[in-house]
Order: sequence, then structure tokens, then C-alpha cells
Amino acid sequence: MKIITVANLKGGVSKTSLAVNLAFILKNSLLIDFDGQASATDYLLRETDVDELEKRNAYLMLREKLNPVECIFKGLTDCIPAVPELHKIGIEMVSEPMATLRVIDRIKKMTDYDYIIIDTPPAITYQLSLSISLADLVLIPATYDRWTIRGLSMILSEIEKSGNRETLVVPSIISQADDEKFRKIMAGRVSMSKTTIKRSNSVRNAAALGKPVSGAMASLFQELAGEVA
Ligand SMILES: Nc1ncnc2c1ncn2[C@@H]1O[C@H](COP(=O)(O)OP(=O)(O)OP(=O)(O)O)[C@@H](O)[C@H]1O
Ligand SMILES: [Mg+2]
Repeated sequence: MKIITVANLKGGVSKTSLAVNLAFILKNSLLIDFDGQASATDYLLRETDVDELEKRNAYLMLREKLNPVECIFKGLTDCIPAVPELHKIGIEMVSEPMATLRVIDRIKKMTDYDYIIIDTPPAITYQLSLSISLADLVLIPATYDRWTIRGLSMILSEIEKSGNRETLVVPSIISQADDEKFRKIMAGRVSMSKTTIKRSNSVRNAAALGKPVSGAMASLFQELAGEVA
């Protein structure tokens, strides 16, 4: 079983789109939504009542009210959903260091899955640290702007704190010209995916329908899945 965490401190860079579409493509995978915004949950479980989501979710798993397997919703891809309570989990877990270790252990024991893909919030939070600790690979989708390098070095130093983990920066929602500039600047500094996830409305449209990305963009996600599998 391989755990892939999708992370970046910057919002709106395609973390959720990437996490969900990888989960669609990689067979026998489970997506865990650790972001209180619950965007991946809305993508995958749009038809599920909030009442149902409130009964079993990532928050209750982290608070040890339920085991991870009890929080799984079956679907096109299996999912442990987020709820907004995750926004306060960091404060609540400060006094519970042993609980974190127990939860890590329980998640790592879900070996019936070939892949666990974790979506994270765009900030240095309890959930991000936990997701990095769990990861075999941290995927960092990144757009290119004047803060990109600074943001990347911050998240890479968070990852380093957790020991050496494989990382892969994925240029995302980016023009061809910016992609070329970005790759030139980053050459030799970080590992970058061969695949670039270019800008396309089909990604937004797929999310609105709760479906995998289709058409030309689907091949890009497939290519990336091949790189991380
Ligand atoms: N390749 C793309 N081309 C065009 N739009 C995209 C692409 N990838 C994602 N989007 C759109 O950009 C918006 C942000 O994407 P997404 O929610 O995946 O980012 P995020 O990094 O998870 O954001 P957040 O930090 O808020 O969790 C969404 O509306 C999504 O549909
Ligand atoms: Mg997101």
C-alpha cells in the first residue's frame, strides 16, 4: 500500500482536483479528505446527506471516536469525508500526542487498499503535518507566481522535519510559457513531474458533475498517475 499526500500551502492550485482524479485513476484506492473545506468530499459524495457525513468522517476518526474503516463511504472511489469540525482539530489534539501515533498506525493498517490519497488544507496545520508523516510520496501541485519559490521552500522544510520523503512538484493550472520558466528556475532544486497539468475548463466541469476528468485532460492525469504509481 502506498500513501500519497497532496499538499501545498497555497490555495486554489489544484490539490483537490489532483487528489480526486488520481483516486479515480489508481485502482483500489481510498481518498481521505483532511481539509475542513471538504472540497474533495463535495466532489465525491455530493449526493450524500450531511447528516450521514456527520455520523462518520475524518474528524471522528482523528478524535478516535471511530476506526478508519468505519468512516469509509463506498463509491466510484472510496472516501473518508471531511467535515468543517476539522478546522478545530489542531487545537484539540495539542494535548493528545499519543492519539496521533495511534491514528497513524490505524491508517497504515488499511492494507486492503493499494493506494491511500490524502487531500490537505492550504496551511501549516495539524492535518498537514499528520498527512506528511503518513506519506510515502508528497505531491505538490504548484502554479507559478512570485511567491511560488518561497511557498515551496516552506513546505519542503515541513516535509524535511518528518524525515526524508519522496516529493514531486507538479506544475499545475499553468501556461506553456510559465511552465518552461518554472522548470528552468527549479532545475536541480526539486524533483518535478514530467507531466504538466495545464489549465482547462474540463477540470472545473468534471468537479461540478462529480465525475472523473474526461477528454485530453484525462490523458494528462493518466500520465501523472503513471509517474506516481
Ligand atoms: N487544470 C485546471 N484548469 C482549470 N481549472 C482548474 C484546474 N485544476 C483545478 N481547477 C479549478 O480551480 C479551482 C481550485 O482547484 P482545487 O479546488 O482543486 O484547488 P485546491 O488547491 O484544492 O484549493 P484549496 O487550497 O482551496 O483546497 C477549482 O474551481 C477547480 O475546478
Ligand atoms: Mg482543496
